[in-house]
Amino acid sequence: MALERTFSIIKPDATRRNLTGQVNARLEAAGLRIVAQKRVLLSDREAKEFYAVHAERPFYNDLVSFMTSGPVVLQVLEGDGAIAKNRETMGATNPADAADGTIRKDFAESIEANSVHGSDSPENAAIEIAYFFAGSEITG
Ligand code: PPS
Repeated sequence: MALERTFSIIKPDATRRNLTGQVNARLEAAGLRIVAQKRVLLSDREAKEFYAVHAERPFYNDLVSFMTSGPVVLQVLEGDGAIAKNRETMGATNPADAADGTIRKDFAESIEANSVHGSDSPENAAIEIAYFFAGSEITG
């Protein structure tokens, strides 16, 4: 499997409940290396731009409000097949559908407050990493 990088967000519901360390432990146990990480409050503009692909969806405004409601932890994860590995570790978008032992099954509160985001393709991983991180902030 190829060495990949993916973009991850620990969302406000998880930082609010002090779960950053527990989420990171799951990521690391899955073989993902956190090669960049910063805790920030997203601006309204950043959240809107990041989720622009969902702009026409009925939940868009609520999603933007949620993602700016508290601190998030932005991350770059590296590993063999990191994109698929991270999504497997996260579990399904809706925690009601997430498999046992996944982050969302164990920690998520709802389809909106679902604790983590992970890129869904190599193309989006590259776009999302570049949106939030300068190359000099990522150390493998
Ligand atoms: S979908 O339905 O397949 O397009 O969903 P997905 O691309 O996996 O995720 C959409 C993101 O929007 C967040 N969100 C919701 N999705 C679906 N329905 C509702 N009501 C909803 N509310 C919020 C969801 O958590 C996904 O966030 P990210 O950060 O991309 O995982």
